[in-house]
Amino acid sequence: MTTITVEHVSKSFENEINRSRVTALRDVSLKVQSGDVLGILGPSGCGKSTLLRVIAGIFAPDSGRVLYDDVDLKGIDLRERGIGMVFQEGALIPHWEAGESVSFFLRLRKREAEVPEKLKQIAKITGIGLEKLLDRRPGQLSGGERQRVGIARALSRDLRLLLFDEPFANLDAKYRHEARVELKRLLNAFPVTSIYVTHDQTEAIALSHRIAIMREGHMEQVGTYQQLYSNPHNLFVATFIGSPQMNLFHGHVEDGVWRGENFGGYPIRRDLATGTRVTMGIRPEHMRLVPEGETLGVVDSVVPFYAEHHLLVTLHLAGEQWSVMTPLNHPVELGSTVQCSLNPDEVLFFDTASGVRIG
Ligand SMILES: Nc1ncnc2c1ncn2[C@@H]1O[C@H](COP(=O)(O)OP(=O)(O)OP(=O)(O)O)[C@@H](O)[C@H]1O
Ligand SMILES: [Mg+2]
Repeated sequence: MTTITVEHVSKSFENEINRSRVTALRDVSLKVQSGDVLGILGPSGCGKSTLLRVIAGIFAPDSGRVLYDDVDLKGIDLRERGIGMVFQEGALIPHWEAGESVSFFLRLRKREAEVPEKLKQIAKITGIGLEKLLDRRPGQLSGGERQRVGIARALSRDLRLLLFDEPFANLDAKYRHEARVELKRLLNAFPVTSIYVTHDQTEAIALSHRIAIMREGHMEQVGTYQQLYSNPHNLFVATFIGSPQMNLFHGHVEDGVWRGENFGGYPIRRDLATGTRVTMGIRPEHMRLVPEGETLGVVDSVVPFYAEHHLLVTLHLAGEQWSVMTPLNHPVELGSTVQCSLNPDEVLFFDTASGVRIG
């Protein structure tokens, strides 16, 4: 297993149409400890796949460097890198049977004798799922099955690093969940330093030890899900992490307290001048409908989440809109005016102009 260090990596591409340059990565630094799974989350085009390819050595960075256990990737022979990659489409050789594909690398290294044992081991961990797939060709496999074989193939090698680029993005929700559980089991059984790119927060939480949030080629914040959820460094991370999204309220500082249109009076950093524009953030799960609250709201929509035992209620008043969670059996009528309250301990403050967290 290997510790991966990314140091101040930047990478741009030339746009072939108008010859302008697109910055895909801007001064990205990152460390993935040996055996850890790092999830990378971020909007489309923010540089996730580019970062993965730079770490794999497929793209050379314009500046900065990538280290595998303190050795610059540039100095490591291709065959010694020991990278397994699993992409959205899977990567199988069309006319091969899946079992043959999985054992390809062991054969290549003249270690054919180990193949049956390794296959048995991997099949056992994934359950019956994999075993019956191994004598089929890619054309006879569904998207999800192809991904499983792709992962098994990656694991059958002597790996230092496993890279995943949205491997389950094409699967439907139920299949995605199963594939995720299987992968989790595999990574527990064969711990490999892994980097996992996904759009799906739930997937990142389920599989990774830590999560990196990217925006426009830049690393915004890296931490456990809990850290990102309760201690986001800026508005981008605060609204990107958590579902439903954090509520935001515009307001300003007035003699050491924050005041907005519908909410206000919460103490804020004393050094902020009266009049400073500050955005207050509070998650729907930290707000409640109550018999007597701080403010009123008119009910716009009510969405039940049966498994989580709550309703998500959207309210509006005085040009502001926000969401609140309330127990499933709480009667809420569309269009009615209700009372609403929030937990002041969970309030976060952000500088409105820069988005930086200030309390
Ligand atoms: N080979 C390339 N040539 C030119 N531009 C590229 C190339 N690869 C990526 N880019 C550009 O670099 C930026 C980052 O792309 P990248 O594929 O890394 O994003 P991503 O986060 O993986 O997006 P998605 O979530 O849609 O897969 C984008 O603006 C993209 O258009
Ligand atoms: Mg991508």
